[in-house]
Amino acid sequence: MRKKICITGASKGIGQAEANLLGKHHKLFLHASNLNSFNNKKEDIHYFGYDFSKMENVSKFAEELKSKTDSLDVLINNVGVMAIHKLEDFTDEDIHKMISINLHSHILLTKKLLPLLLKGKDPHIIFMSSMSAKNRIIGESVYAATKAGIMQFAHALRYELAGKIRVSTIHSWGVNTWNDVEGAAILTPKNIAETVEFIISRERPFLVESIELGHENHWNGASAPWSPK
Ligand SMILES: NC(=O)c1ccc[n+]([C@@H]2O[C@H](COP(=O)([O-])OP(=O)(O)OC[C@H]3O[C@@H](n4cnc5c(N)ncnc54)[C@H](OP(=O)(O)O)[C@@H]3O)[C@@H](O)[C@H]2O)c1
Repeated sequence: MRKKICITGASKGIGQAEANLLGKHHKLFLHASNLNSFNNKKEDIHYFGYDFSKMENVSKFAEELKSKTDSLDVLINNVGVMAIHKLEDFTDEDIHKMISINLHSHILLTKKLLPLLLKGKDPHIIFMSSMSAKNRIIGESVYAATKAGIMQFAHALRYELAGKIRVSTIHSWGVNTWNDVEGAAILTPKNIAETVEFIISRERPFLVESIELGHENHWNGASAPWSPK
């Protein structure tokens, strides 16, 4: 079935890989912070540019999306930023920004798009969390808090929406969205896109509640190559 799919943070990295794969068979609504973030726009895709560090922009995005479609089958809450510092080195503004983009915007957008999803066919919400939600990595305390927050939000929402909208969470270790060296022990954006494709193509009542993704030769949970020493 051709689904109507909205992906946030779809201009690069994991979101872009999801758009490339899912766009082959589905109708896409793609979001990034700015319309100029998208290269090589396609005619049959709707693009949106809204900075999610400000919650009024999340509401505006939801309104514009509602003006383009009267239903939605899949919402992929992918948008996210990761700043890595010891807590004492964070600015107050950077803490606020990461919580806004990674957690608050997901919750608010999901709330605003529920009416569209409830009109969708076999509707599904996917949240992009991280293995940071479940591990202790120096420098990722704030990031981990946002990812653990979204994990638990999704967990409770899955119960609340049971029988109406399926809710899935993806927890991934590092994904090479920053052109790490070839052959590094790190996942690729395509690995995540393929996982999303698998999740949304399962027929009800089967549900991938949450899934953990890693590289065969991965680092352990205590530190990552980029962790401050
Ligand atoms: N990469 C990893 O190792 C990894 C591992 C586990 C989980 N994740 C999670 O996966 C998701 C995608 O990560 P990624 O590595 O693919 O990120 P990325 O390559 O940095 O892409 C981030 C996307 O989010 C958008 N974005 C950033 N700031 C924004 C803002 N203020 N308002 C609206 N959109 C904004 C960007 O749009 P612009 O181009 O307009 O800036 C871009 O489309 C995130 O939630 C991340 O936490 C990543």
